[in-house]
Amino acid sequence: MSKNKLPTEPYKGVRDFYPEDQSFLNYFVDTCGKVAEGFGYVEYHASILEPAELYKAKGSENEEIINEQSYTFTDRGGREVTLRPEMTPTVARMVAAKRRELGFPLRLFSTPNVFRYERPQRGRLREHWQLNVDLFGSHSPAADAEIIAVAYEIMKAFGAKDGFVIKINDRKNFDSIAEKLHVEEKNKPALIRLFDRYSKVERKEWVKELHALTTEASKDFELDAYVSVIDSLFTENSEALASVHRTLIAMGIPEGVISIDPTLARGFDYYTGIVFEVFDTDPQNNRSLFGGGRYDNLTALFDDEAITGVGFGMGDVTMYDFLEVRGLIPEYLPATQVYVAVASPDVLPAATTLAGELRAQRVRVALDFGEKKLGDQIKTAAKHKIPYLIVVGNDEIASREYTVRNLNSGEEKKLSHDGLVSFFHSL
Ligand code: HAM
Repeated sequence: MSKNKLPTEPYKGVRDFYPEDQSFLNYFVDTCGKVAEGFGYVEYHASILEPAELYKAKGSENEEIINEQSYTFTDRGGREVTLRPEMTPTVARMVAAKRRELGFPLRLFSTPNVFRYERPQRGRLREHWQLNVDLFGSHSPAADAEIIAVAYEIMKAFGAKDGFVIKINDRKNFDSIAEKLHVEEKNKPALIRLFDRYSKVERKEWVKELHALTTEASKDFELDAYVSVIDSLFTENSEALASVHRTLIAMGIPEGVISIDPTLARGFDYYTGIVFEVFDTDPQNNRSLFGGGRYDNLTALFDDEAITGVGFGMGDVTMYDFLEVRGLIPEYLPATQVYVAVASPDVLPAATTLAGELRAQRVRVALDFGEKKLGDQIKTAAKHKIPYLIVVGNDEIASREYTVRNLNSGEEKKLSHDGLVSFFHSL
């Protein structure tokens, strides 16, 4: 790179979306949206910018995300502004704002881009696009089950029949665990966060951290004895969890795909009930794909009467990795159907007219301006992966007959002007 020039790389941890990348993102958004719409969810949107206090407010507090992972700045008017790190506080705000007009149960979805100042690594970036599907105003376990069923149907819509498992749990189970372990109310969020790290931390280390949260922390403790106490804790399941599990099986989700995991906690403090997470079961890529859960009190940040919500967030990055490993990414095809090349620069006006006539009939046409040799024009069409080519020359202008070449197979067809239109309509 020569001196005094700017680098062409994007900002650290974010991506540029060249047409093929954008095409996958569109596929991700469309596939998810269609499934969500099939369940009666309707689309909403909001600005990237939120007042920073939305994430600092009690109840939505998540120390890591707020203190270490948020993009927060002061605007010209001295206000603290945050680039949204997630959509849930935003949608809770929107629902609280129009609670009297909106009918419940209310089903909403959106695919915003969200920003987190994380260490970039496989599956983790500083900006990603995240499908959010949320249902407000129903306490029924049928609502939790429906949200999880949407997640499952989305996996199927991407062509994933297996290779993943949906783990479910009820955060309310941690109440009795806290009681049995003598963990005070104020330490409960820390207890749940510790469970969120259960599979990531070495067992004995984890148990030590757990012991430190109990009122018995000052007393001596026998590590091995404590480990066995922990194992005996995971025996109870809430009625809600059992009901969600039953409903999912009745909805046709294979038993092998759903499993109750009593250690599953999820990171955010706002979850109050059922939580779930979809895991990739590939031994090479054994990690979480996405997840969500029920949050009873988030709208209480704005209003005394809380409206319960349940939903999930699913990122494009983790989904791409999951699909790529399995060869499930669709082949890129540009929207452009045909490239019109010119045999010589003097036929450009006639080629422009032809392109215009085709566009008027809703054919998607890119026109070459004849600045390169014909062979190079054709190479350009192939580089752009445009499937068809028409070369306009004096013979074509005189006869009003055109040869359409399939650039993948090399197959050619001679067609009249009207024939061209019906050919492209039939694709
Ligand atoms: P979350 O688990 O923090 O939940 O994020 C949801 C999903 O977004 C993750 O499972 C992952 O697919 C993707 N994701 C998160 N952070 C990153 C990152 N740095 N890079 C790439 N992908 C990422 C939430 O955000 C909740 N608000 C979801 C929710 C909606 N709960 C209820 N409704």
